[in-house]
Parts: sequence; C-alpha cells; structure tokens
Amino acid sequence: MTENLMTPPAAGGSALPESLIPTLPGSTYTDPGVFAREQDRIFERMWFCSVRAADLAKPGDFRTVQIGRESVLVTRSRDGSLRAFLNICRHRGAKLCTDESGSVKRNFQCPYHAWTYGLDGKLVAAPNLTSMPDIDRTEYGLKPVHLREWLGYAWLCLAPEPPSFADTVQADVVERLGSLAAVDNYEVDELELGRRITYDVQANWKLIIENFMECYHCATIHPELTEVLPEFADGYAAQYFVGHGAAFGEDVSGFTVDGGEGFDRLSGVDSDQDRKYYAITVRPQVFINLVPDHVIVHRMFPLSADRTIVECDWLYSKDVVASGRDVSRSVELFHRVNQQDFDACERCQPAMSSRAYADGGVLVPSEHHIGAFHEWVQQALTPDKDGDE
Ligand code: FES
Ligand code: FE
Repeated sequence: MTENLMTPPAAGGSALPESLIPTLPGSTYTDPGVFAREQDRIFERMWFCSVRAADLAKPGDFRTVQIGRESVLVTRSRDGSLRAFLNICRHRGAKLCTDESGSVKRNFQCPYHAWTYGLDGKLVAAPNLTSMPDIDRTEYGLKPVHLREWLGYAWLCLAPEPPSFADTVQADVVERLGSLAAVDNYEVDELELGRRITYDVQANWKLIIENFMECYHCATIHPELTEVLPEFADGYAAQYFVGHGAAFGEDVSGFTVDGGEGFDRLSGVDSDQDRKYYAITVRPQVFINLVPDHVIVHRMFPLSADRTIVECDWLYSKDVVASGRDVSRSVELFHRVNQQDFDACERCQPAMSSRAYADGGVLVPSEHHIGAFHEWVQQALTPDKDGDE
C-alpha cells in the first residue's frame, strides 16, 4: 500500500481550469487494497449506524451486521438495553450466529461445541465445564462493541476508544441543518417503520455517497423528484446550503410520487420546515432525508470494493402506521429515486477500471463539495504522523 494511492491527479495529466477540480482516480473504486484500508481506517474506527432499535423489540431478538471485516451481533438483553458483541465464539472462533436476524429465548449457543452465552455476552455454560474449574467465565465472554442509540438506531463503534459522537455523527447533521434541534423536531426515534427496502448495489460505497451529495444529475435521471422539488432541476443539492432545505413546488401537496397529498405534518416540525426537503450525509454510511410527514434513513453496508448493501427505511408517525394507511405513494417517490441513483452508480462502477478513467474525471462547480469528501477520505486513509497504521 502506497500512501499516495488515492492522490487525485490533474485530469488528463494537464492543468485544469479553475471551474473544474479532479476526482479520485478510478482505481480508488476498484482496488481491494484501498477497500481493505477503508474497512480498517474508516468503518472499523467510526460510529457506524447498524440496526433500527425497534427491530429488536424484546429480549433475545437479534440482528447480525457486517462492519468492516467484522460480523457484529446486536441484541436486546434482559434489562431492556441493546448490546453489541463481536459475533465470534471465544472458544475456537466459530461464527456464533449465522442467521442475519432472529430471536433466541435465553442465550446464544455456539453451533460447534455448544459454548453458551447470555444476552449480556457472559459465558454461562460449556460442555464439561466442571472439568475446567479454573476457567474464568467473565474472561471468556463475548467481546463487547461500543453502542449508542440515537434517532432510534443503534450506532456501533469497533474502535477501542470511539471518537466523540457529537464531533463526528452529530456534527455532520449540525453542519447541514444548523442545529441538532432542527432534527430533534422530527422525533425520529419516536417514528415507526412504514416500509423497508434493501438494495444490493454493485458499486463502490464512495460512488453512492458522491451521487447522494450532488444534484447535477437530478434533471437528467429524476423526473418525479424534480416535479416535486423544482429547484432540483437546476442542479443544486439541498444539502449544498446550510439549513436551506428545498421547497416543494407551488402546486405540490406532499412528498409523494405524483405530488399528491401526503400525511399530516409530524407534530414537532415547525412552520419553516414545512413544505421542505432536507438531505443530510452522515459519514461514513448514512443518508437522512427529512420531509414534513416522514423521514427516510439509508444505511449502507459496504461489502467489497464493488458491492454495497443499502437498507432504506421509510419512517412515519405512530398514528399513520397504526391506522394502516397506504404509504405506497410516498415510498414510491424515493424508491424510484433510489433505483435511478443506484442504476447510475452501477453504470459508473465498471468504468472505474477502464483506462479512460485511470486519471479520474472532473467535478464541475455544483459538485465541488464532493472534493471535500475526497479530501476527507484521503486524510482518513493516510497514516498518522506518529506512524499509526
Ligand atoms: Fe464455539 Fe467451540 S468454537 S464452542
Ligand atoms: Fe439522485
């Protein structure tokens, strides 16, 4: 691994006019070595949004998620709190839970030699344990993973010393909205899941972030979205402006596939957030969209340099979900946007290994903020001065 693997060259090898800045080179999106470094230095060190807390409603409900190179088991313990552990048996290293989700009554039992762990991760039983009186059961419990709940999700961090939640995750939200209060108004942790769609995207996670950050493509590929948000047809992303939000078109009633009526405004949303759409990127793998009557949360799970699972949740008020009202017209709008965006990312991914893109491409002025994302990635992958690898 060379330190300058991700250094963007001037496109075409020549000096660029000021209105254009270079992208990262194509290999950044295909090289397994770069991806391995991203797993190590980004996904395994930062707060990673993993599971909707309400998905694990009762003790013993669990979900496994892939974070960087690790499988992580998230469960609800007997005291009602969420807990996360490395999904690895401490005996000989078998993967403990092989199911992606499910529920256990009382404990997790390893399928290899039946070591058994409580919902709090403690080793509670092992065959012939009486012949090993000196084994310290606490010592051989599951390895815990840092967990923090926010916006109704379990955010995990594999680092021994997690970065400040306020200075990383919440700072990204504040940067876009101006304050945390602005997102608190939507009471995202109180909302309920109306629909979840999982997308298996054959593209590098950075292409998906870059696409989400710009709206230069909106006029070309998002006919339904630009009908609802006419200013998007001009190519400016809402998140480009702090606290700005994109206004609904005059004849638009709601954030739905045909601009027709949505649901009542969420109770905490204030009048200047009404009829507006806000888009937030929380590094490294979350997108949050806020509209008056629902919230859309995307979580990315990067699996390889050219494959990313995206889970998208549409969240509504308890009343809307309990009433069984039809959410399909509002789901359909962003589902189409997702399909259009992911098709675009998949169209670009194979080209990343073409010699045409060996030196990368260029960012036009309305995409310049993507350059800051590239700088952030480069910085994250650069070893610290003290030689920290
Ligand atoms: Fe799990 Fe042996 S590897 S009990
Ligand atoms: Fe888009």
